[in-house]
Amino acid sequence: MSVTILVGGQWGDEGKGKVIDLLADRVEMVVRSQGGNNAGHTVVADGNEFKFHLIPSGILYPQTTCVIGHGVVVDPKAFLTELDHIHERGVTTDNLMVSDRAHMVMPYHPVLDKLGETQRGDDRLGTTWRGIGPTYEDKVRRIGFRVGDLQKPRFLEKKLRFVLRLKNESLTRLFDAEPFDEQAILDEYMQYAERLEPYIRDIYPVVQGAIGRGERILLEGAQGVMLDLDLGTYPYVTSSSPTAGGACTGSGIPPSRISKTVGVFKAYTTRVGYGPFPTELTDSLGDYIREVGAEFGTTTGRARRVGWFDGAVARYSVNTNGIDSMVLTKVDVLDTLATVKICTGYSWRGEEWDHPMANISHMKHCEPQYVEMPGWQEPLRERRRFEDLPRACQDYVAALEDVCGAPVDAISVGPDREHTIVRRPLV
Ligand code: GDP
Ligand code: IMO
Ligand code: MG
Repeated sequence: MSVTILVGGQWGDEGKGKVIDLLADRVEMVVRSQGGNNAGHTVVADGNEFKFHLIPSGILYPQTTCVIGHGVVVDPKAFLTELDHIHERGVTTDNLMVSDRAHMVMPYHPVLDKLGETQRGDDRLGTTWRGIGPTYEDKVRRIGFRVGDLQKPRFLEKKLRFVLRLKNESLTRLFDAEPFDEQAILDEYMQYAERLEPYIRDIYPVVQGAIGRGERILLEGAQGVMLDLDLGTYPYVTSSSPTAGGACTGSGIPPSRISKTVGVFKAYTTRVGYGPFPTELTDSLGDYIREVGAEFGTTTGRARRVGWFDGAVARYSVNTNGIDSMVLTKVDVLDTLATVKICTGYSWRGEEWDHPMANISHMKHCEPQYVEMPGWQEPLRERRRFEDLPRACQDYVAALEDVCGAPVDAISVGPDREHTIVRRPLV
């Protein structure tokens, strides 16, 4: 038996989708445990590109069970749209299930997300407007709707009467916005109930059964450690825990069953949305890396902010998640650069910091300390063995391992499955 957690080690979009897809045929089960359709995971299989938001990136393998765990927030409309898209492309989803305990995004959540952002003005977070924060808020406030509620129409109706009164009061009084109609929501969600029914499951026996049979399980992280509600650059974070700990609570798999934690890191750094980003490149080099790396959001299409590899962030991710194994992606994007830089820590008013600071203002104004190394200036896309990488690239990887304190066990040199160098098996 082996249970592997895979987390994003930076601010999301590290290439988790590609790595999950690579590993999914070596496991019996893939479980998503947090986040929602704020995620956008790209898989390129034999030249065919898929973008997954809620559906686990292991879905292309019919023999792999794909589970949406109870820690995920599910927008039923978005889920069904995604399902239709992948069915149109000939992918079967008989291997897919959704936890009855997962909370649902309700129609008022994206509206409140957008209104909340507008209200913040210049201090807005740059959320994806998918209603993720408001849905988790209601979960914590214990007025959320769970996927299993779709199977209990009378209960759903009674609860909605109470909850919608609160929501409509906020919408009309605080935001001067239109209220929602109870019957319209009920009709809409009862239609979803019918289509979702075959996927709704109590995942406890499913997941425990797999553990009991000694099967291999892969926990698919969404977002990244620096977007974690506690460990990230609060308040410029998401509303879940995209960490190894969050993977356990969101799936019901205990920490004692975890065999390994894999962290996916880009060879540089990107961030979508606002918030501090010490190694950000706001010059033409940043624009160049954005173009070469096609750094435009999978979910919202926004241009991603780009910067050098932040070793202080990466080491913090390794240490707070217990990352045993790193996967380094998009190394090919740096192919043409004459030199590459790695941030090893920050300097703030004469103080040296080896990890991200809680104080957002300090984090925003600190000075990153860099080591600069020669670039390799050769195309990497067709390289398949570590030994075949140019010396300067091997040195860059070794320097990252040194700064982060974990081994780089796989290197991605292009978006497709085949563009991968595996140094040591990941699962
Ligand atoms: P995720 O959210 O972590 O799954 O990452 P995204 O899918 O949002 O963003 C990663 C993007 O980089 C996608 O467009 C991938 O197809 C692409 N990608 C992944 N690995 C590589 C790589 O090694 N090189 C290049 N050039 N692109 C890659
Ligand atoms: P994947 O799984 C990158 C960011 C948003 C915003 C902040 C809060 O593809 O790596 P939210 O809508 O979650 O309330 O927005 O979090 N964000 C992501 N950034 N990749 C993601 O997912 C993200 N999911 C949320 O841009 O800054
Ligand atoms: Mg993404």
